[in-house]
Amino acid sequence: MKIHSKAVHAGDRKRKTGTPIPVVTPIHTAASFFYDSLESIDKVFAGEMHGYAYSRYDNPSNAALEELVSSLESAHGTLATASGMSALQIAITAALTDRRKHVLAANALYGATVKLLHQVFEPFGTTSSFVDICDLDAIQKSIAAEKPGVILMETISNPLLRIGEIDKIAQMARDAGACLIVDNTFATPALVRPLELGANISLSSATKYLSGHGDVIGGLVSCDEEHFEPVRALSRIYGPILGPFECYLTMRGIKTFPLRFDRQNQNAIRVAAYLSKHPGVEAVYFPGLANHPDQATTARLLPADQFGAIVSFEIEGADKQGIFKFFDRLKMIVPATSLGDVHTMALYPAIASHRDIPPKQRARLGIRDNLVRLSVGIEDIEDILADLDQALELS
Ligand SMILES: Cc1ncc(COP(=O)(O)O)c(C=O)c1O
Repeated sequence: MKIHSKAVHAGDRKRKTGTPIPVVTPIHTAASFFYDSLESIDKVFAGEMHGYAYSRYDNPSNAALEELVSSLESAHGTLATASGMSALQIAITAALTDRRKHVLAANALYGATVKLLHQVFEPFGTTSSFVDICDLDAIQKSIAAEKPGVILMETISNPLLRIGEIDKIAQMARDAGACLIVDNTFATPALVRPLELGANISLSSATKYLSGHGDVIGGLVSCDEEHFEPVRALSRIYGPILGPFECYLTMRGIKTFPLRFDRQNQNAIRVAAYLSKHPGVEAVYFPGLANHPDQATTARLLPADQFGAIVSFEIEGADKQGIFKFFDRLKMIVPATSLGDVHTMALYPAIASHRDIPPKQRARLGIRDNLVRLSVGIEDIEDILADLDQALELS
């Protein structure tokens, strides 16, 4: 099946002879399950029989969503977690269980991911180092020097939209015995399926495009065969699972995700073209523009004419007050801290997603104080452009 069909069918409508089949998976709120004989639950606990025993371990609502996402991500198995951050935490922890406790991370990452490495992993003895994920020689040198257990990157980086060569990095990781974890939040499985390119774990914040309506916090960890059981086993102890209501909402969101994302991608191309010509805009970061530094990788790894729906741009000569003014002028675009919703959203990385990265380090990463990140929604493109136009005129 193709992605538009998988999105509406996978995980749902389990056929069982003689019983009515609900067209959508019900929300199973039960914390625990029992059987007509204790022997059955003994077999479920032992893994000898498929079934449910306790919802921290497994629940039919979670299982349906996990099956759906495995189908989208071409994964052996998926774990639905309480947030994108808990997805990152459990994936890294599981991958490092029997590997050297060092994470080689892309230097362009979501701010909280950097914090997770420094403030959660480092105090427990897992060191980290950072590398330009678009420089294959530098990655090879860092692997030789650091012998990382995990290599961590984003498919399309936050917020400057750099695109690394996942397939080549996956080969380097394999040769070094490291686990490649890819945060696929910005690209989504509609554009890139990292496991098909050789990554071991593809994870995402379900909060964003997959649920898509700004009403869920969730995460998804999709794994190859080697890594699924360790992730699941750890989750059964830690318990960072997604609740059944959020599983339902995420599944409901995914049914229209490919449709929404197609439209968002097309709108983003128009927004990037408009901003590129605006005299008040100093620079535009978008993989679909001819000046994007990762053009060749984009052409190789992304489908034609689809570049994701984030557009970042710098407002000419704007200081913090100028940026605040631009945000305050927006009438339709929502100045809220997230991305991937149906509505267009604007975020100021210096005070939000990358707030905790010291200003000097932010500058080194190219995240300037006049940078705005737009998550382009599904509205009529003319309304999006009109709102940007009036806010930029006056900033
Ligand atoms: C690329 C990326 N990964 C992970 C996360 C964390 O997701 P969540 O907020 O669902 O924990 C975010 C949040 O913005 C993100 O942008």
